[in-house]
Formats: sequence, structure tokens, C-alpha cells
Amino acid sequence: MVGVKQKPIRIGMIGYQFMGKAHSHAYRDLPFYFDTPLKPELKVIAGRDEEAVKEAQERFGFEAYETDWRKVIERDDIDVIDIVTPNHTHKEIALAAIKAGKHIIIEKPLALTVEDAKEMYQAAKASGVKHMICHNYRFAPAIQFAKQLIDQGKIGRVFHYRANYLQDFIIDPDFPLVWRLKKEIAGSGALGDIGAHSLDLARFLIGEFTELTSTMETFIKERPLGEMSGGLSAKGSSDQKGEVTVDDAVAIIARFENGALGTFEATRFANGNRNKNKFEINGEKGSIRWDMEDMNNLELYLSDDAPGEQGFHLINCTEEVHPYAGAYWPAGHIIGYEHTFINLVDEFFRAIAEDYQPKPDFEDGVRNQILLDAVEKSAEAKSWVTIEQELE
Ligand SMILES: NC(=O)c1ccc[n+]([C@@H]2O[C@H](COP(=O)([O-])OP(=O)(O)OC[C@H]3O[C@@H](n4cnc5c(N)ncnc54)[C@H](O)[C@@H]3O)[C@@H](O)[C@H]2O)c1
Repeated sequence: MVGVKQKPIRIGMIGYQFMGKAHSHAYRDLPFYFDTPLKPELKVIAGRDEEAVKEAQERFGFEAYETDWRKVIERDDIDVIDIVTPNHTHKEIALAAIKAGKHIIIEKPLALTVEDAKEMYQAAKASGVKHMICHNYRFAPAIQFAKQLIDQGKIGRVFHYRANYLQDFIIDPDFPLVWRLKKEIAGSGALGDIGAHSLDLARFLIGEFTELTSTMETFIKERPLGEMSGGLSAKGSSDQKGEVTVDDAVAIIARFENGALGTFEATRFANGNRNKNKFEINGEKGSIRWDMEDMNNLELYLSDDAPGEQGFHLINCTEEVHPYAGAYWPAGHIIGYEHTFINLVDEFFRAIAEDYQPKPDFEDGVRNQILLDAVEKSAEAKSWVTIEQELE
């Protein structure tokens, strides 16, 4: 916004590792690419380990640090609380932030239970603060473009939604028992960590679920104690072992309101697949495929192409016409994982400046939590579960 004075928006961040880095980077880079109406100011970052949070403060460019997150929320010079801590802390921090009238950006999954997620959503809605949940894959240009194609009816009636989210970072039985493997902290395993993204993308692209059935497995039941050390790495391997209390893998069969059938697989045991978040959608007039590891490209098949010319063709979603692409580089000059977060925070600040509720928000967080809960109940009972649409 050259020549126009942007208003500042002041950020307080709780947590400073994997997502702390991704979100901090997004705030710093946003004004570089977008004519953002609000310019982020990185005021304060919180974490319990003073040495580590101080290092993060310096590296990410925050003005100050705190070792108690409550002090961040108490400050009246903070407009946004960004919650990038493990899942069991989300509810307490979010409710305190809402009470203090702060806008909230929060990592997924929203909470540990549907009840908690609903309480957070209702509190946010009643307070009037803007809220957003970081299902960042929605903000890849190829995904936004896929949504446009589906909404325009390019592939017609949808028959199948087929998604896999495959990782392999815990295959080694000596990979420690980090928070992601403890039910009381994470809520669930591969399901809530990565399956949650696939379920959200499906809702975003083709609509709501009506029912599902599932099965889950924990291949390694005990691991040495340890903790995450940034990204998906962990440190500490002791002789002492603890029990893994979440799923390592999950498979889901689902039905959608539009009549489509869905199949989903999320696992951290798919050797050779580092972050293979992919899907294929088959419709009456064509199909669409996407794979996060090749995130700039969308594959499109159209059945009315001339005989002999039919086949999936590759669309590099970096042209001016592709959502968000124009903010970055000339066509063919690709973008990456971190740009999904930049696009997401652009939407968040626009919503605050123009006073509308951005998506995905806590409502999407509740709907996602309802699906996670249904998957666990279904696996436990070995039966189909109807998806609740009630959000109160
Ligand atoms: N959107 C995505 O693609 C994506 C990717 C990874 C993680 N996540 C989500 O982001 C959140 C954080 O995950 P991460 O990978 O950054 O974790 P991480 O382990 O890398 O970092 C967690 C941070 O929270 C801090 N923390 C832990 N317990 C705390 C407590 N009780 N109070 C205050 N701070 C505490 C830690 O010190 C650390 O800074 C989780 O909800 C996770 O599901 C989302």
C-alpha cells in the first residue's frame, strides 16, 4: 500500500517452536508481498523455558519475551493472541484471550474434545473478536483454484473424495514419547495431527460429512521418554519408557451431504513419505488431484477433452489468475509451505480491518473436532457414526 499509512496490529504469541516459527515468518513477510491493511508488529512471545524463548524472541524479531503466557494476555497493547502451543493448552489460553477482547489465531485441532471446542466457539462468537484456525493448506493457490473449479461445476457431481496424509517420522521405535504421542496432550495421534487437515480440506472443497466409519492402530505401544525439538524432530532418549496412548494410523470411510463417498488414510508409518498430504476427487465430468509435496501443481482431467487427447494435465498455479499467486513472483516462479501461512494471515488481517469473520474459524474447528470424535467412537464401537451438525 505505497503512500498509504498502514495501521499497526500488535501480536502476542504463545509458543515458539515449529508453528511459532511458521507464524512469525508469515507476519514478517506479509507486508513484503501484500498490500495488507494492518501491519503486524511482533510485540511479545511466550514460552516456559527462558533461554529458549529468549533465543526465539531474537531470531523471530519480537520486541520482548515472557515465561508466563498470562502476562501476554494481560497487556493492553496486544491486539492478537496467536496460540501455537500443544493441543491441551488451547482452550485455557483461548478463553482467557477472548475474555480480554483479543482477536485469536489458533493452531489445529481446536481442542481435545467436542465439548471444549464448542465452548471456545460460543465464547468467541459472543465476544465479537475475530477468530481463525490454522488449516493452512486451504491457502495454497492450487487448493483455492481447485475450489473455484469445483464450485463452477467443472468436474460436475462429485462421486469420490480420496485422501491420504502420509508421514514416516516416528517409524523408528526409538523415536521418543513426545507430546504428539500422548492422548492427554494431543487428543489423538495421526488422526488429529494430520488427518484433521485432510478432513478440513474435504469439507472446504466438497461440503459436510453425514456419517463415517473407521479403524485405528497403534503399531508401537511403548517408547523412550523425550520431547519435540523443533519441526518434527525430537530429543532425549532415555532407558525409561512410557506408553503411547494415541493412534499411529487411521483409515476412514465416509459419506457426504452431496452424496459423495470419501476414503481417508492418515499415518505416520508410511515409510518414504515425509509429508504426503494428497487427494483425488472424481466427478461426473472430470477429476482433480493434488499433492502437498508438489503443492504448486494441480492435476485436472476433463472427460470432454477430444478422444486421444484425454489425460490428466498439469496446471502450475502460479499465473496471475490463480488465487494469491499474483502477490508473489512471475508465473512459474514457485512458492512453498511457508506461503500458505502468509496467505492465511493476510485473510485474517483483512477480516479484522474490514470487520467480517474469516474462514476457517472456530466453527470449522468445532466441525473438525466433531469428525475427530466420530472417528474415535466409530473405531471403538466398530460401527458407523452419524455426524452431528449441532454447534451449541
Ligand atoms: N498447521 C499445521 O500444519 C501444523 C503443523 C504442526 C503443528 N501444528 C499444531 O500447532 C500446535 C503446536 O505444534 P508445534 O509442532 O509447533 O509444537 P512444538 O512442540 O514444536 O512447539 C510447541 C511450543 O509450545 C510450548 N509449550 C508447550 N507446552 C506449553 C504450555 N503448557 N504452556 C506454554 N507453552 C507451552 C513449547 O515450549 C513450544 O514452544 C499444535 O496444536 C499442533 O497440532 C499445526
